Amino acid sequence: MESEECLFDEAFLSPQVQAALPTGYTLQALRSNDYERGYLKVLELLTEVGDHTKEDFLDQFQFMKKHNDIYYSVTVTDDQTDRIVAVGTILIERKFVHKNGLVGHIEDIAVDAHQQGKKLGLRIIEALKFIGAQRNCYKVILDCAVKNIPFYEKCGFQQKECQMAWYVSNEKAHL
Ligand code: ACO
Repeated sequence: MESEECLFDEAFLSPQVQAALPTGYTLQALRSNDYERGYLKVLELLTEVGDHTKEDFLDQFQFMKKHNDIYYSVTVTDDQTDRIVAVGTILIERKFVHKNGLVGHIEDIAVDAHQQGKKLGLRIIEALKFIGAQRNCYKVILDCAVKNIPFYEKCGFQQKECQMAWYVSNEKAHL
C-alpha cells in the first residue's frame, strides 16, 4: 500500500480510549485507504451509503482533510483482519453565541453487527468527546433514535429538547 494520509493529527486521539480498547483493536483517524478497510460498509448500518468508487471516497476524504478543523472522523480497526469495525464523526461548529463558542456535533456512529456489545460504540463516543473537549467546545450534541437513548445515556449524554427534520427531495417541487 502506498503511503497513507490521516484525516487529522494524532494528538486528537485519546490515549485513554486506546488503552481501554480490547487487545487487538486500534483507534485511528480516518485514513486515505479506509475505503479498502470497509469504512463505507460499516456506515451502511446507518442508511443508504451509495455506490462509491475509490475516487469518490478520496474526493470526500480530501475535502474533509482540507477542513480538518471541522471534520474529525475516527475508526476502530481489528488489527488481525485490518478491517474497520466501528466508526464515528464529530463536526466542530463555530457560533457567534457564547462569545464565538464552538459546538461539537456527533454524527454517524456505527459498530459492525458482529462486533456490537464489546463497548466499541462507547469507546468511539469517548474518543469524540475527547476531541470536542480538546477543541474547547462548550457542548457536544447528537440526534438519535429513541431505542438508542439508553446507549447514549451510558455514554454520559442526557436527553434535551427534540429533533426536527425536513427532507428536501420530497418537497423541493412545492417551494
Ligand atoms: N439499548 C440499551 N443499552 C444499550 C444499547 C441499546 N440499544 N446499545 C448499547 N447499550 C449499552 C450496552 O449494554 C453497554 O452497557 P454496559 O456498559 O452497562 O455494559 C453500553 O450501552 C455500551 O455499549 P457498547 O457495547 O459500546 O455498544 P455497541 O458497541 O454495540 O454500539 C451502537 C452501540 C453504536 C448503538 C451499535 O449498536 C450500532 O452500531 N447500532 C446500529 C447503528 C446505530 O444505530 N448507530 C447510532 C446512530 S445515532 C448517531 O449516529 C448520532
